[in-house]
Amino acid sequence: MRVKLIKQPLDTIGADITITFTTAEMLTHHPVADLLHSAGFKGEQDQTCMLHERKVLVCGVENFEADNFRSAAAAAVKVLENTAYTSAKIAQHGTENIQGLVEGLLLGSYRYNSYKSEPKEHPTEEVLLSIDNYDSTALDESVVESLFNSAVIIADATNFTRDLVNTTPDDMTPQQLSIVADELATSHEHLECTILDEHALEEEKMDAMLSVGRASDHKPRLIHLSYKPENPKHVITLVGKGLTYDSGGLSLKPATSMVTMKMDKAGACAVLGMLKAVSELNLPVEVHGFLGAAENMVSGNAYKPDDVLTARNGKTIEVRNTDAEGRLVLADVLCYAQDNVKADYIFDFATLTGACMVALGPYTTGVMGHNNRLKHEIFQSANESGELVGSLPFNRHLKKLIKSEIADICNIGSKPYGGAITAALFLDAFITDEMKEKWLHFDIAGPAYTESSWDCNPHGGTGAGVRLMLAWLRELTTK
Ligand code: BES
Ligand code: ZN
Ligand code: ZN
Repeated sequence: MRVKLIKQPLDTIGADITITFTTAEMLTHHPVADLLHSAGFKGEQDQTCMLHERKVLVCGVENFEADNFRSAAAAAVKVLENTAYTSAKIAQHGTENIQGLVEGLLLGSYRYNSYKSEPKEHPTEEVLLSIDNYDSTALDESVVESLFNSAVIIADATNFTRDLVNTTPDDMTPQQLSIVADELATSHEHLECTILDEHALEEEKMDAMLSVGRASDHKPRLIHLSYKPENPKHVITLVGKGLTYDSGGLSLKPATSMVTMKMDKAGACAVLGMLKAVSELNLPVEVHGFLGAAENMVSGNAYKPDDVLTARNGKTIEVRNTDAEGRLVLADVLCYAQDNVKADYIFDFATLTGACMVALGPYTTGVMGHNNRLKHEIFQSANESGELVGSLPFNRHLKKLIKSEIADICNIGSKPYGGAITAALFLDAFITDEMKEKWLHFDIAGPAYTESSWDCNPHGGTGAGVRLMLAWLRELTTK
């Protein structure tokens, strides 16, 4: 499905069907109120009513907020999926709702069909968005145009991330992920890509990451994708967990928990999506993406519970569970990123713990770090972008749970509680004193992947983190 901005009034645009939005209050004055009433339509959020004879699809929104348009537009494209309408048209609903509308359409109509022998395409090939407002109030055309263009870039980047997450572990190996990053650099302005293979990783003393990937036939890769515009105002580092498969290793996952673990690369894929959008939006910020790509498998040379690994910064780690592998990979990648780029902020994205889902539910990203002001900015970006975030607090007592009797630190907590926080406190041990206040960790284990559709997320990878980080980066460029 394509979404196009048309510089014409809605009634002069030709399309098979018109999509309109209404609140419950507005319904009484609706031109076809009786018809809608008799169809049982009450104007509730995400409720839809298809009036085929009138060629109108009416969608309910609780009120005129961007979030509501995002999910109502997604509900509308779901309805259109079961029709034969090849085109639809929509009027603007205020400049503040453009992003929600465009995202609802492009993210809601996303389907991953790569492995279907007979892919079912969405019948609606294009949705035409008139530049005029639904109530004829004047909108600034250039503002509408620029908001529309960036919304399309961000939605496309989110779908790009989804595609990567949804690709099977055999097709998206660490090496393949490095090829994708390299291709992105070739096709995009100001993007450069450097890849460290297993030999380079050895030279760089990244033993923790190498140990995690050792049992796999697909050896680890560290991918450094950077965006360097002229005269950047800030330097940002983004780190992503890229476990192309997490079987748990020798601490093998139960069969049912292993299914979906192709999503364990979602942090790395989100960082790729962020860089794609940052380049297409031409943001005046230097952005460095560091992806730790590895596969956690079993074999005769697998790393073991009881092993002690030495990370890049010299800290020793007692392995007590090989399924807590993401933090081992991130330990080395965080050290490498801090050694190579002096950034104003460093953020990491990882499907790190099941415990984060227990704490916050499956839809919310867990945000952890020392800087409350920075976390507050992220909450605002979450509201702006429609992603859900929740803060999980550090404390010195939880920190004691990852002490080791025989090494500097242990890779799991000694108690089965607070697992998302103890994982973040483990990462904290690999953040330099200088960067402590400049670092945030995003545990996206919950929202990165879904087996049942919610909001504008169909089955599979959701692209969690992409919209959130872009909202924060765009806000940063206004300062
Ligand atoms: N990749 C998983 C975390 C995860 C679980 C992501 C479910 C998405 C859905 C991670 O590597 C892991 O296995 N973590 C363990 C940690 C435990 C061994 C301390 C977990 O959460 O069970
Ligand atoms: Zn694991
Ligand atoms: Zn994992």
